[in-house]
Amino acid sequence: MLDQYVQALQDRVENQTLRSLRSCAPAGNGEIEINGKRLVNFSSNDYLGLSQHPALAERSIEFVKKYGTGSGASRLLSGNLDAFEKIEQKLADLKGAEAALILPSGFQANCTVLAAALAKNSIVAADRLVHRSIIEGLQLSSSNWFRYKHNDLEDLEQQFERKSQGLDQKPETGKPASNSRSKKRRRIQNVSSDLSTESIPKWIVTESVFSMDGDACKIDDLLFSAAKRGFALFIDEAHATGVTGENGMGMTAGKEFSGISMGTFGKALGSFGAYVCCSKLMREYLVNFCSGLIYSTALPPAVLGAIDAALDIVPEMDEERLTLAANAEYLRNALKKMGFDTGGSTTQIIPIILGSEESALALCGYLEENGFCVPAIRPPTVPAGSARLRISLSAVHSLEQIDQFLSLVRSWHEKKN
Ligand SMILES: Cc1ncc(COP(=O)(O)O)c(C=O)c1O
Repeated sequence: MLDQYVQALQDRVENQTLRSLRSCAPAGNGEIEINGKRLVNFSSNDYLGLSQHPALAERSIEFVKKYGTGSGASRLLSGNLDAFEKIEQKLADLKGAEAALILPSGFQANCTVLAAALAKNSIVAADRLVHRSIIEGLQLSSSNWFRYKHNDLEDLEQQFERKSQGLDQKPETGKPASNSRSKKRRRIQNVSSDLSTESIPKWIVTESVFSMDGDACKIDDLLFSAAKRGFALFIDEAHATGVTGENGMGMTAGKEFSGISMGTFGKALGSFGAYVCCSKLMREYLVNFCSGLIYSTALPPAVLGAIDAALDIVPEMDEERLTLAANAEYLRNALKKMGFDTGGSTTQIIPIILGSEESALALCGYLEENGFCVPAIRPPTVPAGSARLRISLSAVHSLEQIDQFLSLVRSWHEKKN
């Protein structure tokens, strides 16, 4: 029985895709120590440096002193510390939403909120590049879902149209495939005829800032298109929360739409956990039907304290957001001048798309030898042929660090060519 695991690991060794954990410790100034070696950290999602902010640490300690180290139970039992609902109200106000609900992690939120909120047989269009946790949420749901070309609203509309007319014979559905072909065909036909009725809920699922490409969805076009056609939206703001939008609370902050925006506290907000913003009705529905909330221990007080403090600080961090955006623009332009492909990046996440896995690994290794931690991201995490280095900048990085990085990339490029 163990053979299958040995074989799977052996395959990874042969394909040079074996993953392993490395021991890390933050070292200040946007640096990190990995296995005892100090590196500039271009691999963290701590976009504002808040994970090291004293105000977050102080509030965490305050909350631990007040509530203890654990919440002790799920929120529906006795884990719903009074701080939760105060923080949720603060969050909803900052986001301009009717209600907010805190969940244990972003992965859990995407998996279980989507599984609960997408009604049986609803039709769901998901951007081709959405995060793994969203795909797993779609798979868990009983919806009929398909993927549209990345950021291509024309493709999205055409695919919805085709499905409505019953022309599409191959819906990509999250439902487990039936063994029987005829059953499958019957189901497809049912979907097609159901689609002609107006009553079926239709959703668009996307990220606002894409985690691997650092480009942004066309938020105003999406909101307009969804409102015009009566679709609901699920927007993952994991990489936008703290970095962009009204109060720094993401691209949907202050915007009215039907559906759910989701975000995390573990990236720019410096701690851990996740939220969804939605209507009061949807919040109540999720409290009753979202397995990730019902069957999981509530976030611990230390984390709640850090979230509470981050929500006080983040709206005031326009200067850091401007620095981050300007540094990202500077780095991106310099890479493009050297001839590198940075894809559609317009944010703090900048890919250097090299294509081949060998090149991505080689540049990653060269940078690490010379003091920079920048992860190589390879298929299947990104589409085949688009292996890359993924730079994620933080407002705490200095221009000096960025220039050092650029001169290393330049020398690697020159040696290679
Ligand atoms: C777009 C996106 N959504 C969700 C998640 C999951 O969030 P968490 O790390 O809080 O589980 C991530 C994590 O990297 C992400 O990149």
